[in-house]
Amino acid sequence: MRRKLAAGNWKMNGTGVALNELKELSASHPSSPVEILICPPATLLHRAGNTVEGSGITVGGQDCHAATSGAHTGDLSAEMLLDAGADAVILGHSERREDHGEQNEDIRAKARTAMDAGLKAIVCVGESLEQREAANTLDIIGGQMSGSIPDQATGENLIVAYEPIWAIGTGKVPTLEEIGEVHDFIRARLERRFGEGVGRSVRLLYGGSVKPSNAAEIFGVSNVDGALVGGASLKAQDFSGIIRALE
Ligand code: G3P
Repeated sequence: MRRKLAAGNWKMNGTGVALNELKELSASHPSSPVEILICPPATLLHRAGNTVEGSGITVGGQDCHAATSGAHTGDLSAEMLLDAGADAVILGHSERREDHGEQNEDIRAKARTAMDAGLKAIVCVGESLEQREAANTLDIIGGQMSGSIPDQATGENLIVAYEPIWAIGTGKVPTLEEIGEVHDFIRARLERRFGEGVGRSVRLLYGGSVKPSNAAEIFGVSNVDGALVGGASLKAQDFSGIIRALE
């Protein structure tokens, strides 16, 4: 049985005042059956961890370097995230693939380092609108999966997030059939590569314009184990609505 997961990606949003939203969130979900994870900017990670302490809510990073330490100005290692209180790290988000030119092999190396450090790696995959319209979605997702997911993946240390690029922050969402097709495909690929035991235990998140108003129907789709939420994770009330749809 895979535990449902509601993950919030705050991206480059939030200063200290945003911690009030976390206080409200932890008060609203004192002992949720759903795993709740918030990935704030790195500057807030430690304070966010302190804010949610004892609530069952966990915090995570939005990226890490593939190396464990060294001359990498401005970067953070997986161990540093862990030390700051992180339980997980988002890797290979399309915004990092685009803004920082991250390739599948970079993401795989980062995921390997994150898993070795004891973090859960949330590996993101997703097609552009052009790729979907050219009927290349499954090829793209399959390529991103084999390129970005390292061999030591298990049901505990890997989470896969399907985020169609054209649905991120746009209010556009694929049809439930389209989401189901991709999630079933991801599940089948994981089972083929890692065997049924591991393949069936990895959690699959959908991300892209998830809101309280569409969450329940998306969570009803097969192989959707939760969501990776951007905009609607910034306000406790909105994110609560999404969590409640999973509970
Ligand atoms: O990682 C979450 C994300 O890319 C989705 O963003 O704002 O469409 O929920 P949003």
